[in-house]
Amino acid sequence: MRTTTMGRKGPEVSVLGLGTMTFGAETEQDEAHRMLDTFVDAGGTLLDCADVYADGRSEEIVGRWLERDGNRTRVRIATKGRFAVTGQPGASLRADYLRYALDRSLARLRISDVDIYQVHGPDRSTPLDEVAGFFAEALQSGRVGYVGLSNLPGWQIATLAALLDDERLICHQTQYSLLVREPEWEIFPAARHAGLGCLAWGPLAAGWLTGKYERGIRPTGASRLGKDPNRGLEAWERRGTDRTWTIIDGLREHADRLRRTPADLALSWLVGRPGVTAALVGARSTRQLVETVGGLGAPLTDEIAADLDLLSAPAVPDYPYAFLAELDPAPEGER
Ligand SMILES: NC(=O)c1ccc[n+]([C@@H]2O[C@H](COP(=O)([O-])OP(=O)(O)OC[C@H]3O[C@@H](n4cnc5c(N)ncnc54)[C@H](OP(=O)(O)O)[C@@H]3O)[C@@H](O)[C@H]2O)c1
Repeated sequence: MRTTTMGRKGPEVSVLGLGTMTFGAETEQDEAHRMLDTFVDAGGTLLDCADVYADGRSEEIVGRWLERDGNRTRVRIATKGRFAVTGQPGASLRADYLRYALDRSLARLRISDVDIYQVHGPDRSTPLDEVAGFFAEALQSGRVGYVGLSNLPGWQIATLAALLDDERLICHQTQYSLLVREPEWEIFPAARHAGLGCLAWGPLAAGWLTGKYERGIRPTGASRLGKDPNRGLEAWERRGTDRTWTIIDGLREHADRLRRTPADLALSWLVGRPGVTAALVGARSTRQLVETVGGLGAPLTDEIAADLDLLSAPAVPDYPYAFLAELDPAPEGER
């Protein structure tokens, strides 16, 4: 698998990171361990965890795998804290809460220090200088190698980067895919300014970009939307807009013509975007993961990438974004 540098000066990681959100939920431990083995055997070196996944069970599953056969040395581990987990009262970005959440994550993961610790989302009730203070303390303690941000608006990314002023702040996470490009308006410019690499979550739009769903046929069976058509941002009605189907139709046409899969093209487009370090892929089974990892083909030509850019370009609101782009256009290759 290809590798790349995270942010300006972070570690070298694989361009696909394995998301662990399904572990302990859709995926039981033995299968999760097979997925982890499959991923590292394919050259994957980045795992994305969070305390909140399956209420802590996901980190425990990863922890039992890390203890085996020198696995700890084969991967970079990123985890996150901010949201409610049973036995961790006071979920927030407050320093005392994050300190405790980090302790609990290290215990579940069975490690003494984590490569990247990320705040999982925003919290209006905590001043950003308190978050920056927590990061500085965690880095100083040696329990955290690097720090990162997740789901923060652009202004909070820029503010935290200025407050912390430390090159070990290396990454941010946002949902980003051919179906979700709005982070290009504020989040990517702020992250670029701060020198952060993007770990893009939902790179297959939670399965939509594999091409497995068909217009007008409600999903059934063992898929996220088969189990729960109203699930989250990927819900059937919410995501199944004309725009989504137009992008999926166009993606399938490109895939057929190039003899590649829609998932391969969607991921290849994504990891080729400026500012993207890695796509955090999820899977419910080893079979799915083998398709995703084994199916990642060569980087796209400029022409195909440009076609996919055009196909998926979101309508830009006239004001402020279209107006500002006219007044002060971004240089070629930047968003
Ligand atoms: N920072 C955050 O707030 C945040 C939020 C969400 C996720 N994340 C991270 O990002 C990771 C990935 O997120 P995601 O799971 O939404 O990403 P994704 O890669 O877009 O979607 C993964 C889902 O797509 C379906 N899928 C995958 N391969 C398939 C295949 N070959 N054929 C058919 N369906 C396939 C599976 O769902 P089915 O159940 O439908 O089979 C799978 O669970 C997570 O594990 C987590 O680490 C972070």
